[in-house]
Amino acid sequence: MCGIVGYVGPLDAVQVILDGLKRMEYRGYDSAGIAVEVDGTITVAKRAGKLGRLSEQLEREPLPASHHGIGHTRWATHGGPTDTNAHPHVSEDGRVALVHNGIIENFAALRAALEERGVHFVSQTDTEAAAQLLAIELAETDDLTTAMQRLAKQLDGAFTLVAIDAHNPGEVVAARRDSPLVVGVGEGENFLASDVGAFIDHTREAIALGQNQVVTITRDSVRVTDYDGAPVEASHYHIDWSAEAAEKSGYDWFMRKEIFEQPRAVADTLLGRFDTAGRLTLDEVRISEDELRAINKIVVVACGTAYYAGMVAKYAIEHWTRTPVEVELASEFRYRDPVIDSRTLCVTISQSGETMDTLQAIRYASAQGAKIIAICNTNGATIPRESDAVIYTHAGPEIGVASTKAFLSQVVAAYLLGLYLAQVRGTMFGEEIKTVVDELAATPDKIQQVLDQANRVYELASEMVNVEDFIFLGRHVGVPVALEGALKLKEIAYLHAEGFAAGELKHGPIAIIDSTTPVFVVVPPRGRDHLHDKVISNIQEVRARGAQTVVLAERGDELAATFADWLIELPSVPTLLQPLVATVPLQLFACELATLLGRDVDQPRNLAKSVTVE
Ligand code: F6R
Repeated sequence: MCGIVGYVGPLDAVQVILDGLKRMEYRGYDSAGIAVEVDGTITVAKRAGKLGRLSEQLEREPLPASHHGIGHTRWATHGGPTDTNAHPHVSEDGRVALVHNGIIENFAALRAALEERGVHFVSQTDTEAAAQLLAIELAETDDLTTAMQRLAKQLDGAFTLVAIDAHNPGEVVAARRDSPLVVGVGEGENFLASDVGAFIDHTREAIALGQNQVVTITRDSVRVTDYDGAPVEASHYHIDWSAEAAEKSGYDWFMRKEIFEQPRAVADTLLGRFDTAGRLTLDEVRISEDELRAINKIVVVACGTAYYAGMVAKYAIEHWTRTPVEVELASEFRYRDPVIDSRTLCVTISQSGETMDTLQAIRYASAQGAKIIAICNTNGATIPRESDAVIYTHAGPEIGVASTKAFLSQVVAAYLLGLYLAQVRGTMFGEEIKTVVDELAATPDKIQQVLDQANRVYELASEMVNVEDFIFLGRHVGVPVALEGALKLKEIAYLHAEGFAAGELKHGPIAIIDSTTPVFVVVPPRGRDHLHDKVISNIQEVRARGAQTVVLAERGDELAATFADWLIELPSVPTLLQPLVATVPLQLFACELATLLGRDVDQPRNLAKSVTVE
């Protein structure tokens, strides 16, 4: 939630920050603002609405030329998306400007205490309390870094704070706890941002900030301390994403581009997974094989689309490892007193690696003694850093708010984990593992075959522009695919869509089906006939209630074709791998329908890409 940029260097700070915010806009787009300091005075421009509105305002009324400043793009939590509530917030004495990502949980108490001291507030945000308090600390210390350390210690909750001081030119200071912040290390310039995308055009060298740390950047230095001012050794890393990967490359939406990148995302996620002896390896493992052999339960925690990837993975991991797998919404996990101990393996799945619900879930699991393995797309993010082992998904940056290529690569990474566990625990023979890996290696081509039929899916979307309710059905691994198809439509087309296990339909939901409700059905491949034939019966049940059916079935499945008003053919894959091909037409359908309905596909209303609040 919220994108933050800070800059010190020789370039025009406003332009660098605006460009950075443009790349951060997927994190929040309710309002945006920039603050710069010139000759001991802080000037702010901020505006409700998308970043474009701020840019227009800056064209009419430019900010003074400056070489350092801070910027913010907001996803509102405390206080509506108005000009006044937009960040940066300036202290009453005008000395500091501050931007914030996260939630300051004790802000009401802090605000009351400050008001009692006579401080006047202008916004409804929690952030303004931090700005006012920072100015008070600064008045005492006259050093922004010390003031920030003292401020951070007084705040409860999750935050990244970045500030400038009118009296300390050329310096930007930030504090972090539980919200993302990375430092971009340039030559004669340095950057702060919520995500490396903000500065990737300028530098590929980065520092991942740890918990409870404060960082001070000037043109030539980056200084990291803890909240007590003790120096901290920073961990440097190199960013290997290309700048083009974060651009649209001619597509109308990042989402569409990312759907079409899926063959590559899956292939890259499979790359380099074997050692010279042909044994599967993970990216970072700090769990011994003995510990992995001792586990008696796996719990997958994740949110949204990543949770559906976990649901898919359960079928495969249980089948391959004969170990029970529970899949749990991260936001619910720690509230149900789950049974976890040192023999539990907690697998967490997160594209961003910053989702607060997921982060809190793994912290809880870790505190109960569980080992944590993260499946993540973002190098250096908090979740992989706090885990005992990591599998990176190598999908490249995912900018569209609706997750697509991350989902497919999460499923692949979770499958690799299942196979790795099967290898370590001896529940599969080497050649069995190899067979599955070969089948996985064949999926990028099969995904491409689905993408090659995009026009047929687009035609279907244009037929359905007036439909208001959609049902998605599946069985076995088709259930999470159905749920994911429905989620995509809800989030980007703002249409009512529900996914169900096909067998559950008759237990209630079938009552909502009539001739106005198209039903998408994911038909399992033939071969597991009991599964396939059951779904065929379910299609007949909905047709008998007048529903139009959109049937996603294996090419050559004549029986399924018979019951399809619309047929979308899928390449032949083993049942467990079907989500990797069956999800793709549903993504394309949602993207196209949302486009036809005039929605903002990459930045749907009320959403943000990285959900760093609980
Ligand atoms: C849906 C979507 C969300 C995310 C969820 C978890 O398209 O993008 O449901 O999947 O917010 O996000 P990560 O994977 O970053 O933890």
